[in-house]
Amino acid sequence: MKTLPFNDYNYKTTKILEALNSASRSLAELKGVASSIPNQHILINAITISEAKDSSEIENIVTTHDSIYKVLTRNGFKDEAAKEVVNYRQAIWRGYEIVKKKGFISTNILVELQSMIEPNKSGIRKIPGTSLINSATGKVIYTPPQDEKEIRDLLKNLEDYINNEKNETDPLIKMALIHYQFETIHPFYDGNGRTGRILNILYLILVKLLDSPILYLSNYINKNKNKYYKLLNSFREENNYEEYIVYILKGIEITSKSTIELIKQIQNEMEKYKLEFKNKLPKIYSDNLLDALFYEVYTRISYIEEKCDVTRQTAATYLNKLTEAKLLEKEKIGRETIYKNTRLIELLSKF
Ligand SMILES: Nc1ncnc2c1ncn2[C@@H]1O[C@H](COP(=O)(O)OP(=O)(O)OP(=O)(O)O)[C@@H](O)[C@H]1O
Ligand SMILES: [Mg+2]
Repeated sequence: MKTLPFNDYNYKTTKILEALNSASRSLAELKGVASSIPNQHILINAITISEAKDSSEIENIVTTHDSIYKVLTRNGFKDEAAKEVVNYRQAIWRGYEIVKKKGFISTNILVELQSMIEPNKSGIRKIPGTSLINSATGKVIYTPPQDEKEIRDLLKNLEDYINNEKNETDPLIKMALIHYQFETIHPFYDGNGRTGRILNILYLILVKLLDSPILYLSNYINKNKNKYYKLLNSFREENNYEEYIVYILKGIEITSKSTIELIKQIQNEMEKYKLEFKNKLPKIYSDNLLDALFYEVYTRISYIEEKCDVTRQTAATYLNKLTEAKLLEKEKIGRETIYKNTRLIELLSKF
């Protein structure tokens, strides 16, 4: 298998440069929008959850926002797919935390993230037998390296490439190449796609093209999955790197734009909600409470008690009044009542 850097390719073709230009511009705009708004934690939280959902869906782990938020309210709600999505979200945060702290993406981090995503099939492959198979025809599409030592060496080469700033290739093109190489090494028994997609975002943070984990290509890849597979394969088999790179750059552009749109919609919704809340329930309103309803999305009495520093009785009164005012919806799960910000959920589900 080839090692990085791939110096024999020309990355300055017209097609690549055009796509690079648009992708860079859109990504810079997203970075600006995201860092200039208040309540960033709310947006990052909502976007990370949507990404975890879409990325897991590529792996046929299908669930709804409703189930995910139910799992997140920690009331023992059972939905295996939603739990996996929540694990994936944890992995994004863990990766983000480490990259911010260490300024380095190591093989060990990737191993750790994969183990969070796939606890039962974790660790670098030791036993041969893994290959990519076309699910329709049963034919082997690609057989990645099988020897553990070889896999580890290739990961070391990738690690050096990721963290070496001296390489003069544009970071967005590097991100595309890193993704290609990671998927081609295919170091794990399972979870390579999801780990590779987290690596993309961590890399953008590492090279400071983003400050927070808010750009995700999964929705884009999901919509063009066959094309994505086809391009990876034609890169592997025919050195067709150009089309693949353009595809990823296009994804960055489209996803940046749609994320900016989502951020604006959430901001608008929050503004509208705030006005209505203040109007209908002026005695209850506080910025803190509003924040909690948008951060948690599905909330519980005990959470509001803690967050707003009020008695259980008062927290219950708040939530019930908000429900009567149609700003929240109530649902009983087992013995517990949860309160749902359905307006935000609807917005997120449509996205
Ligand atoms: N038919 C295919 N052609 C090319 N590449 C493929 C094909 N099938 C899978 N892959 C590659 O392998 C990855 C999937 O590997 P794996 O199943 O280990 O990861 P995952 O996270 O479980 O899956 P997914 O990416 O589907 O969520 C894909 O993301 C893609 O990069
Ligand atoms: Mg898989």
